[in-house]
Amino acid sequence: MSFEVPPDAYTRFMGRYSEPLGAVFADAAGVSEGQRVLDVGCGPGALTGHLVACVGVDHVCAVDPSLSFVDATSRRFPGIDVRTAVAEDLPFETDVFDVTLAQLVVHFMTDADRGVAEMARVTRSGGTVAACVWDLGPNERGPISLLWRVVRELDPDAQDESQLAGVREDQLVRLFADAGLEDIESSELTVRVRYESFDEWWEPNTYGIGPAGIYVAGLSPERRNALRERCAAVLPVAPFDLEATAWCAVARV
Ligand SMILES: C[S@@+](CC[C@H](N)C(=O)[O-])C[C@H]1O[C@@H](n2cnc3c(N)ncnc32)[C@H](O)[C@@H]1O
Repeated sequence: MSFEVPPDAYTRFMGRYSEPLGAVFADAAGVSEGQRVLDVGCGPGALTGHLVACVGVDHVCAVDPSLSFVDATSRRFPGIDVRTAVAEDLPFETDVFDVTLAQLVVHFMTDADRGVAEMARVTRSGGTVAACVWDLGPNERGPISLLWRVVRELDPDAQDESQLAGVREDQLVRLFADAGLEDIESSELTVRVRYESFDEWWEPNTYGIGPAGIYVAGLSPERRNALRERCAAVLPVAPFDLEATAWCAVARV
């Protein structure tokens, strides 16, 4: 899944959730001072910022296939080692990181088994591999779950994100077990985001980011307006808070 989009637009869309998620995810993965850590699929740096705060910029590496995100992350954290790469082919030697993390990335990998195996390869024996993915299965607890629910009401044939790798309970655990990872611990991570107006929620959905944004951007003006109206009827009256929950798996190499 390509994310060649303006970093600022991503930040207004998903960054609102992934910035606070990064804090709880780094904590769940046990990131602490002195460790050398890798952020796989860093985007514009939501998790990266928390990692830099924990271990210092010299101890953080990051990769992402999106050139605009690599550029944004390197500008945001001067001196950081950030490279253009995919999880499935990490440009690092074996056994070099203490902790390797992927926040909201596994479901976008072309080959999630290979991506997780690569994360394990670059992590030292006894080190930690961690991943989290929004709960986009039947519980519908992701940030864009409400949008997809309304889309399906209006367009039952729409292809949502509920079939992607890792979005359902225990799928991350199975991916980790298949990669030979040990002592796998699973948990749920929840964040809360405030919206001052309906349009603050709606507008980022029109930026064409990720599967939901691409779907919305491809609608005719009439159908997009019908979707907007229905979402406005379903959401609480502004201002409102929304919660989003991600599956998280943390394991030892
Ligand atoms: C939802 S964003 C998450 C970005 C960031 N980790 C965050 O939490 O905001 C998904 C990211 O995965 C990246 N991505 C897509 N396919 C990938 C792959 N095969 N390997 C690594 N990253 C990938 C995208 O470029 C994008 O930056």
